[in-house]
Amino acid sequence: MRFPAVRSRRWRRTEALRRLAAEVDLLPRHLIAPLFVKEGISEPLAIPSLPGQRQHTVESLVAEVGELVELGVGGVILFGIPAYKDAQGSGAWDDHGVVQRALRALRAEFDDRLVLIADLCLCEYTDHGHCGLLADGPEIVDNDRTLEVYGRIATSQARAGADVIAPSGMMDGQVAAIRQALDAAGFPHVAILSYAAKFASAFYGPFREAAESSPRFGDRRGYQLPPSGLRAALRRVEQDVAEGADAVMVKPALPYLDVLRAVRERFDLPTAAYCVSGEYAMVHAAAERGWLDLASAMREVLVAIRRAGADWILTYFAKDAAKTLR
Ligand code: PBG
Repeated sequence: MRFPAVRSRRWRRTEALRRLAAEVDLLPRHLIAPLFVKEGISEPLAIPSLPGQRQHTVESLVAEVGELVELGVGGVILFGIPAYKDAQGSGAWDDHGVVQRALRALRAEFDDRLVLIADLCLCEYTDHGHCGLLADGPEIVDNDRTLEVYGRIATSQARAGADVIAPSGMMDGQVAAIRQALDAAGFPHVAILSYAAKFASAFYGPFREAAESSPRFGDRRGYQLPPSGLRAALRRVEQDVAEGADAVMVKPALPYLDVLRAVRERFDLPTAAYCVSGEYAMVHAAAERGWLDLASAMREVLVAIRRAGADWILTYFAKDAAKTLR
């Protein structure tokens, strides 16, 4: 059958036909909102490079999450910004730390009505800004000593009420270390969402401003994946799955859709994609200049990430997108 009998445009003529023929859905439950909570402030603070996002107080965080619950968003992931930093990042496993207090407040307010995810990393808590403890040897970060600390952070976050722990530091063995620590502390039900394929990316810029987590010296290329590394990413995911990850993540999203597709096809765990701060910022910056339409660009970005294979999308667009999806 050839043209003119075959006309693929028949499915595109009206909105109703296009809706029927759509191949992927984008629903509020697919979205996870990243949120920042900062210690020692009395009012939420705007983040200039992430329009519409704020560094929250525990109180303003609870209000924000209330809106997200109403909108049916799938979950939230919390990042803490402590008032004091030290070389060990000890604020990260303080049971009265800012993320722990936020988790308790959210659990008390919303019970089990949404999924609470705690990002687990040291970069916001260390005075040097690296994701682990500094090493004396040839590496910037001491992988194995960092694992002990990650175990401590995970149990503290679980005690505070996290459903899911999401380690983002890219240490080898982090999933196994956290699983062991959680099980030993009586949290076998707490899940691990591993940032398994996390690339050393220029697109984290606005986040580092928001989370106050830029490395003071050097960079993260000694532990995060090289942008060219598709096979390296797949090996890393395989390792995290073997260590007991309950879900895996690819990050960033748009520049790595091929990696996302490959991970989706090779592994049968829930697969998340993190549409990171720089992806959000560039869409907003262009829209501010009138160079593209914000709402349709947002939707296209999120549908593309779903099409590439993401079950869940961590995105600063979560609230705005969920509003349009009702
Ligand atoms: C660090 C962390 C980063 C992000 C999430 N966790 C930044 C980094 O690795 O420097 C980036 C998220 C974003 O850009 O939105 N643990």
